[in-house]
Amino acid sequence: MLLIRKRIIASALAVMTTVCLLSSCSAGWEDLESVGTGSGDSAPSSEPQDQTGSAGNGTDSSSAEGSTIQTGGKPEINPDDWNLILVNPSHPLEEITRDNLVELTVTQKSNGNGKYFDRRAAEYVVQMFEAAKEEGINLLSRSTFRTYNLQKTYFDSHVNSFMAQGMTEDEAKEKTLDYTAAPGTSEHHTGLAIDITTSEWEADGKGLNDSFAETDAAKWLKENAHKYGFILRYPKEKESITKIKYEPWHFRYVGVEHATEIYSRGICLEEYLGELD
Ligand code: DAL
Ligand code: ZN
Repeated sequence: MLLIRKRIIASALAVMTTVCLLSSCSAGWEDLESVGTGSGDSAPSSEPQDQTGSAGNGTDSSSAEGSTIQTGGKPEINPDDWNLILVNPSHPLEEITRDNLVELTVTQKSNGNGKYFDRRAAEYVVQMFEAAKEEGINLLSRSTFRTYNLQKTYFDSHVNSFMAQGMTEDEAKEKTLDYTAAPGTSEHHTGLAIDITTSEWEADGKGLNDSFAETDAAKWLKENAHKYGFILRYPKEKESITKIKYEPWHFRYVGVEHATEIYSRGICLEEYLGELD
């Protein structure tokens, strides 16, 4: 099993190295154009805005019929829709692009990388943060879009840290893969994923670990994020499917209809899309 997983990662790394060379994924953060979310000009309502219809939830109604799965009264699942893109250890992202990114207007970690998000979903981050604030929860964006090189920096840093503790390189990579996707296979490359903590959590210098799940913020997010189109991407009880350990801070935008369905059924994205491997 471990061997198969490593082979998948190795081939993903090879693919992504090629993609990275062909695309602009090695450019610096400063190259991003700041166009704003639009929500900075007018205060968004704290209630989730209507996202029904193809314009609202970003679903491309012109998608090929053949790839649409009819679900009988449930939201239609078209894996080709931008908001349903699956990126995981066995589904590397084919192209990492900044084309759809805008600057988030929400509170961010000062030395983090929580600034850029997909323009089609950025307003829902803002709405979710505003709604939490009304309940006294000061959400903070810690990490959003990542380039291939940034993910590689994180990945290598974890590997080196584990090796410094005495692990072999293979052991260190295996351990790192529990929490950190190999470059090219991170959902953060899509601009649709966000790691969320709180201002208080960061002020206390706390890192990303399971104890965040005990905070009011994590509990609120778990029960409310779907109203804004987000799913808890790596639930504890789905570790064997996602291949990533429980991350109470990592949320992924899929749109309100899909998020609500996934939340109600208590499933993960791989199960929803029928992509179990
Ligand atoms: N922590 C998630 C799995 C990532 O590195 O993308
Ligand atoms: Zn994350």
